[in-house]
Amino acid sequence: MQAARIQWREGGTPESDAFGDVYFSRDGGLAESEYVFFKHNGLPARFAQAQDAFFIAETGFGTGLNALLTFEHWQRTAPPHAVLHFISFEKFPLRRADLIRAHAAWPELAVMAQQLQAGYPPLTPGWHHVPIADNILLWLWFGDVHEGLADLEVPGGVDAWYLDGFAPSKNPDMWTAPLYEQMARLSHAETTFATFTAAGVVRRGLEAAGFAVDKVPGFGRKREMICGHFAAGAPRQRLQKPEQVQVVGAGLAGAAAARVLADAGMAVTVYEAESPGAGASGNWAGVLHPLVTADWSLRSQWYQLALEQALPRWRDAIAAGVAGRLSGLDQLLVTPAWQVRFEKFAHRFPDHDLFHVVEKPCKTAFNAVHYPQGGWLSPPKLVQHLLDHPRIEMKRQKADVHSRGLDKAMTIWATGVGESPLRSAIRPVKGQVSRLSGSMPALHEPLVHQGYSVPTTMGLITGATFEKTALDQTIPTREGHAHNRQLLAQACPELELGDTLEGRVSLRPTTRDHMPIIGVDAARQQAFSLGHGARGLISVWYAAHQLATQLGACRRPCFIRIEHQSRISRV
Ligand SMILES: Cc1cc2nc3c(=O)[nH]c(=O)nc-3n(C[C@H](O)[C@H](O)[C@H](O)COP(=O)(O)OP(=O)(O)OC[C@H]3O[C@@H](n4cnc5c(N)ncnc54)[C@H](O)[C@@H]3O)c2cc1C
Ligand SMILES: C[S@@+](CC[C@H](N)C(=O)[O-])C[C@H]1O[C@@H](n2cnc3c(N)ncnc32)[C@H](O)[C@@H]1O
Repeated sequence: MQAARIQWREGGTPESDAFGDVYFSRDGGLAESEYVFFKHNGLPARFAQAQDAFFIAETGFGTGLNALLTFEHWQRTAPPHAVLHFISFEKFPLRRADLIRAHAAWPELAVMAQQLQAGYPPLTPGWHHVPIADNILLWLWFGDVHEGLADLEVPGGVDAWYLDGFAPSKNPDMWTAPLYEQMARLSHAETTFATFTAAGVVRRGLEAAGFAVDKVPGFGRKREMICGHFAAGAPRQRLQKPEQVQVVGAGLAGAAAARVLADAGMAVTVYEAESPGAGASGNWAGVLHPLVTADWSLRSQWYQLALEQALPRWRDAIAAGVAGRLSGLDQLLVTPAWQVRFEKFAHRFPDHDLFHVVEKPCKTAFNAVHYPQGGWLSPPKLVQHLLDHPRIEMKRQKADVHSRGLDKAMTIWATGVGESPLRSAIRPVKGQVSRLSGSMPALHEPLVHQGYSVPTTMGLITGATFEKTALDQTIPTREGHAHNRQLLAQACPELELGDTLEGRVSLRPTTRDHMPIIGVDAARQQAFSLGHGARGLISVWYAAHQLATQLGACRRPCFIRIEHQSRISRV
């Protein structure tokens, strides 16, 4: 993964070193973008009539100028209930500093530019999510566009294509048949495209893939450009939204699923055997931060994409009064293996922006990595907050796999270690946390070591044990407390620990491969959000959105190889 190397021309125009071409022209770049991509996809009229979701896909994100311009228009002209999904592909992403410098040329787009800069993802390969506004979601693929397109599904299809990317003469590898074939696979009968070039090789490629191509006058001094629509397309599929659904289990997984479906307009009944947050999600404080691995496998990419989707939702929850803070977290490098892992990662992705190394952050002998976006949250408060919705009805009732006591609607199983048709794939792992007295001024941010410690208004929550156990062993033990105190004492030997006040035990619903189990079995009217293991705070939103998309409650892009990692058919 290589960041773009930019030469700044006079007047602040960025030029790509690798391609020897400018990203946009300073004179009239904005007007050109508007003329070529916006106008020639017919978007002024189409935005005003947008239904539930509108999908634009772009080759070559670059500085994001086309995206920002499109966001501005969408905010002004689209109906408020409709959501814009802007999907863009970039092989050489700009570093954040270059992005900010490029945006300085467009003060008229400053509001949207700030949103993009704030959510601009780490420069790691794979899919990323950038929330721009409630009704504007940006999906970025960092890698070659051909690979990214092959990995993409769009329910209902892409509505408009922006074919950017440097000129075919300077970038022949991009403008090849597989690009047009993937476009055809992802298009419907009303799909349009527009591009600044009129090169014969592009026109012929698009025509061969089934697009009707028109030559029209180009922008400014450019003689011609091309645009058109997908003549070979099938009609766009409409959403077939189920009206109601039932969720079994009111932990983080069930509450997030219920919330997404209720927000999409469905009536949701949640069945809970005990009380909301009675299981693992009753844990007083949990932490979340990026999961850095040296190989940055598809699983790492899954969790990164999940985290990027979870963070904005959790920030909203904190703003609504849920206990927690997402303003930074340190992970102590307590073992040589951890140190090596972070070094390898940083060597491989030098522009990653995920963490930086800090020296001995509290009373400790260890250095740490600091995650600026990490933090902690109170899971039981989150559960309460998510379930508080006029379309969610709670029923205190135990459900069984024969659906006795349940209505006939689609059932989502989010039962943690409890009963479900896929229970045999779940391995309960007991976890005990301890609550210590005192505020410990040396610990002002959550700390991850061999366990984790979170300063809260209730005192210090510290833990946790990991024990394979029988399901009924949920009483805190003295050994558990001693273990938790020892983890923290080893990490920060000079820290004076308060008294142990109490403990809480619950069971993590883990799986053999440490990935959650997510998906819909339409034939049996069942869906699953299970196996969130020790990372539910990261994974439950992505799970909820995958289910909502598969159930037809909303339309979001799907990422084939990533979502394959959490498919239900593997268990
Ligand atoms: C000690 C500890 C520390 C943790 N720390 C972190 C952390 O720092 N960060 C992080 O991201 N994650 C952490 N986790 C993991 C996280 O808590 C879980 O991933 C998450 O809570 C799982 O949520 P869930 O909804 O899948 O399961 P649960 O919260 O267990 O919810 C399942 C619910 O289903 C109900 N139920 C079960 N069977 C039935 C039935 N038949 N009918 C009706 N209801 C039923 C249960 O009563 C329960 O309320 C921790 C877990 C533990 C135990
Ligand atoms: C002209 S710039 C795009 C300008 C951009 N749309 C904007 O609004 O700023 C072209 C971009 O395409 C990217 N690109 C070129 N070939 C690519 C490929 N094969 N896959 C993904 N991105 C590619 C380049 O790195 C560059 O950022």
